[in-house]
Amino acid sequence: MAVRSVPFFNYPHVFRSSEDEFMAIFQDIGRRGAFIAQEDLHRFEKHLAEYAGAKYALGVANATDGLHMAVRAAGLGAGDEIIFSSHTMVATGAAIYFAGAKPVPVDCGPDHLIAPDSVEAAITARTRAIMPTQLNGRTCNMEAIQSIADKHNLLIIEDASQALGSRFKSKAAGTFGLAAAISFYPAKTLGCLGDGGAVLTNDDQMYRKLSLLRDHGRDEVGDVAMWGLNSRLDNLQAAILDFKLARYDQEIEQRRKIATLYERLLCGRKELVLPPSPSADPDHFDVFQNYEIEADRRDELKVFLRQRGIGTLVQWGGKAVHQFEKLGFQVSLPFTERMFERCLMLPMNSALTEADVEYVCEAVCEFY
Ligand SMILES: Cc1ncc(COP(=O)(O)O)c(C=O)c1O
Repeated sequence: MAVRSVPFFNYPHVFRSSEDEFMAIFQDIGRRGAFIAQEDLHRFEKHLAEYAGAKYALGVANATDGLHMAVRAAGLGAGDEIIFSSHTMVATGAAIYFAGAKPVPVDCGPDHLIAPDSVEAAITARTRAIMPTQLNGRTCNMEAIQSIADKHNLLIIEDASQALGSRFKSKAAGTFGLAAAISFYPAKTLGCLGDGGAVLTNDDQMYRKLSLLRDHGRDEVGDVAMWGLNSRLDNLQAAILDFKLARYDQEIEQRRKIATLYERLLCGRKELVLPPSPSADPDHFDVFQNYEIEADRRDELKVFLRQRGIGTLVQWGGKAVHQFEKLGFQVSLPFTERMFERCLMLPMNSALTEADVEYVCEAVCEFY
């Protein structure tokens, strides 16, 4: 087989794919001097809220800040425990930690998303909220999470960083709880040209507090109503995101096509566990931020694919949050730990051609 290059993610392609349009946006923003909190940001926020089916969207500097501010705006902090899945970016736990609350990691289930039974088992008298991560572009079974939250009087704050546009039972990720954060990191399904994020909420009070928190606590007339941070989404990034949001459905369609092709070419291999196919379950609409498989002899497969020019990644540098020793968690999460010996992300982005995906699948089959 002739070796070709299939990088895990093609960063230059992000820019090249719409270079002329981006240059026009840079010029327009630059000539207007519209750098911070201008009409482009407000327009994008309006479009994002409409797209996500939320009452409000607020652009923030990144999703980590968005989650952190959401925890604070919800009134949670010292003495409170918040349950999250250990199979997430460390940012989820960090957002809880920096709000002064205690992050409590729990196991994920076979779908790699937070396992409702492990949430229930981790609840104590101090538990105040659940922060489910809508991982890999798939929304959790939010009925199960909501019923636990209702039973124990807990808030839900979603980490929807990887899941804009994904749905469970026709309801969009980011609209189930009190608030949610989305990330616009360049490799995300809706990525900007740097860091960026948004918070979604349907709650008027949360919106008010989050608006203050992200801008030094200042209200519309510049009076300081509370202590705040500087965590605004740049106007330039907002203009770029607004341009990309108008084309977002095509991005998702392309990713779902790639997932269907992976499924067709790899299903039936006993050495692999594939993510649910895009058409498997009418309750779920997945946007395939990632294509995370489980594989026998994962590390050898990774090396083999690298030799064939194919980039793969083990999420979070190969460890779930509770496995980073210096963070000091004293917990064993057997399912997540076993999964982290087997999980591997194959390339998944809209720069991939059908021939690229076929090449990846041929190489995987050749390895076994
Ligand atoms: C699940 C999850 N949570 C949080 C984050 C943090 O997002 P940001 O880099 O925008 O702070 C990411 C980004 O990779 C993520 O994937």
